[in-house]
Amino acid sequence: MIRTFTKEGDLVLDPFCGVGGTLIGCHLSRRTGVGVEVNKDWVDIYYNLCELESLKPLELIHGDSRDILKKFIHEKRKQFDFILTDIPYWKMDEVEKSKGTYKKVGEQSKGVYSEKSKLSRFSSDSKQFEGIKEDWEMLIRDVFSECFKLLKPGSYCAVFIGNMYHKGQYFLLNADIVRILAQIGFVLKGEIIWYDVNKKLHLYGINYSWIPSIVHQFIMIFRKERINNLNKEEKEKVKTNNLKRIKNKMSSEE
Ligand SMILES: C[S@@+](CC[C@H](N)C(=O)[O-])C[C@H]1O[C@@H](n2cnc3c(N)ncnc32)[C@H](O)[C@@H]1O
Repeated sequence: MIRTFTKEGDLVLDPFCGVGGTLIGCHLSRRTGVGVEVNKDWVDIYYNLCELESLKPLELIHGDSRDILKKFIHEKRKQFDFILTDIPYWKMDEVEKSKGTYKKVGEQSKGVYSEKSKLSRFSSDSKQFEGIKEDWEMLIRDVFSECFKLLKPGSYCAVFIGNMYHKGQYFLLNADIVRILAQIGFVLKGEIIWYDVNKKLHLYGINYSWIPSIVHQFIMIFRKERINNLNKEEKEKVKTNNLKRIKNKMSSEE
């Protein structure tokens, strides 16, 4: 992805950076990268890995993207050439992983994941997504609004997202992402389906109901268009956002 969407020396942002997969991709492809990650354990793993592999670490900032990206704008940081990120999922922490375990109807999952791993699952903190789906949408809206301002016009943003089955209902989280990012001003350019060969197909709910076995994710590709390529309505949206930004800047300087 990084090689497709950037050139050598370009600057990449990952606002939900985890252990730094995006930054390692930057190292391997001679790009520069900046990551933000709210969980200190993951940040430490990245820096330890760089030490072990004798890599000069790129910038992985420990903190909440909602604050850190605002700071970037305030500091007038150089705009990014590409945004690549695997976003946290709504209720990710609560969903019991079935990998390797099987339970009968009504039984508790055996939770193999947490027994094997000493690390917590990917989430900012264990409480963050126990709330309603709207909280998750708000996080996504807040972070990508800042990302939009930080991305160079004409550049791309790729978002990894999988859909979810939760309490008997299937949620098209990729459709939610498209709706939210389009409201911000991103233009959807396409989707890539990533079939994860490491995920096993399971037979769920047999003789009772049909439940999907999810073995794929989407990589949704967006672009921040150059203003000349936008239609009238989109141009107006960009102008309004710019005006808002100027007004906010002026009032913060007063
Ligand atoms: C799906 S994981 C990303 C995994 C990553 N691609 C990697 O290589 O490890 C999503 C990450 O977003 C982080 N996160 C959630 N909310 C955040 C926030 N408000 N600011 C920064 N990071 C956040 C989580 O802690 C988690 O590590």
